[in-house]
Amino acid sequence: MGIFNDLIILQKESNIQLLNYLLILAKLIFITYSGTLFGSYLLSLYFNFKSKKGSQTEQLLSRDYINLITPNKTIAFALGIVPYISIIVIYAQLLYNTDSPVVLYLIWGFVFFLIALIGAYSYKHSLQLSLQMATISPKEPIEEGDIYHYTQALSRLKARAGILGFVFLFFSLWILISSSSLAVDKERWVYADFISTLFSIPAIIIYINFITAGLAVTGMAFIVKFFIWDKYTYKFTPEYGEKAQKLNASISLFFMAFQPIFLILNLVLTPKYAVSYFMFGFALAVLLISFYTIHIIYVIVRNNKMGYSSFAFYLVILVFFFTIIKEQSAFTVANKQQFAYLADEYKQYEEAKLASLGRTQESINGEELYKVKCTACHQFDQKLVGPPHKLVLTKYIGKKDELVKFLLNPVKVDPEYPAMPNQALKPKEAEAIADYMFEHYGPMLEK
Ligand code: HEC
Repeated sequence: MGIFNDLIILQKESNIQLLNYLLILAKLIFITYSGTLFGSYLLSLYFNFKSKKGSQTEQLLSRDYINLITPNKTIAFALGIVPYISIIVIYAQLLYNTDSPVVLYLIWGFVFFLIALIGAYSYKHSLQLSLQMATISPKEPIEEGDIYHYTQALSRLKARAGILGFVFLFFSLWILISSSSLAVDKERWVYADFISTLFSIPAIIIYINFITAGLAVTGMAFIVKFFIWDKYTYKFTPEYGEKAQKLNASISLFFMAFQPIFLILNLVLTPKYAVSYFMFGFALAVLLISFYTIHIIYVIVRNNKMGYSSFAFYLVILVFFFTIIKEQSAFTVANKQQFAYLADEYKQYEEAKLASLGRTQESINGEELYKVKCTACHQFDQKLVGPPHKLVLTKYIGKKDELVKFLLNPVKVDPEYPAMPNQALKPKEAEAIADYMFEHYGPMLEK
């Protein structure tokens, strides 16, 4: 991991805390986005496959699912690529100088994710093409080299890219989730290889949890996006509308029902040293909100109360968010020692930098301090307010500690003089002054 170590900017303790928060934020964005991408991509492929038997509804569903999460390319950039890069960079910072392979795996996951995005957008395009073609039927028999022919071939090619893209998405998210789970379980770092990381039991359970949660979000997002937000621009027949709403509410309900089970499994499998009260609190919150959400979606499906969909959608997102925060808290707790180490590294680095510039952090100039703090009352060979240093210093020769002690806490010595006021020196300053005095006056005292 040498290349990464060179790119790391060492961070102060407070910044490490901040990085942990930013990691949570990036994950909230990326995981919610990619969960919905996964769910809608999968459902789109599924209905596209089913529509081969010639059902218009299924073809439309297939198109709408993929349009749900790929409305334009900016979304993929802002909610996918940028947060993913942030996640990698932050992990690289936080796991600096550990033997964890997390960052390396994440980079692989990112490459897969990019390929998956290309696949998703090509696939979306292929669906549009085939829907357009369904409306224009060629009048003349299709010939080799015909535009229509080309379009058809292109559409087929892009559809294949769609399946490939999904496979890449599947692996990219699996890599992300299993690496995040590895980041929590530092006891595995030494011996974890790529395959064992992917197939570790906690990773697989979190991944299945992620997939089911993604499908639950997709169902609600579909209803909210097309039938609430885009109510006036989205064109659909009443039958299709009713079918699509009912179907999506049912999908959401079905997959929401798994959430409490995964939550409990997850808690059981978290390494002991990563568990905290905070995490339990969040787990409990997720559990309660999950039950409530399941109830609301049940009402939607049962009584066809689509008006509750927005509310249910935000609840599902909340469950998603809380689950992610809970996972990340395990990471923060498990790596406390590592963060303390990083803060320490930063201190050493700062000190080394200052030293290289010729001043240590405690760079205290004895001469300067002496001139500012002492010369008002002391001269070497003249009596001012205090006794001349020529007379009093001799008894301190070879007893620097005692001089320092006196300077830090002057006691009454000579009845000829008033007591010396405390100069409020710090121990290091007193020492520097004592050093200066011996260095500067020492040779003159000898004579
Ligand atoms: C406000 C005036 C004042 C200032 C400022 C002051 N001193 Fe003094 N200093 C005195 C007086 C008065 C005495 C005599 C105290 C006594 O004999 O009890 C004294 C005594 C001393 C002695 C002799 C102690 C002994 O054991 O006899 C030393 C050494 C000394 N000062 C060093 C310093 C140094 C170093 C500083 C600067 C950090 C300093 N003083 C600042 C007034 C001052």
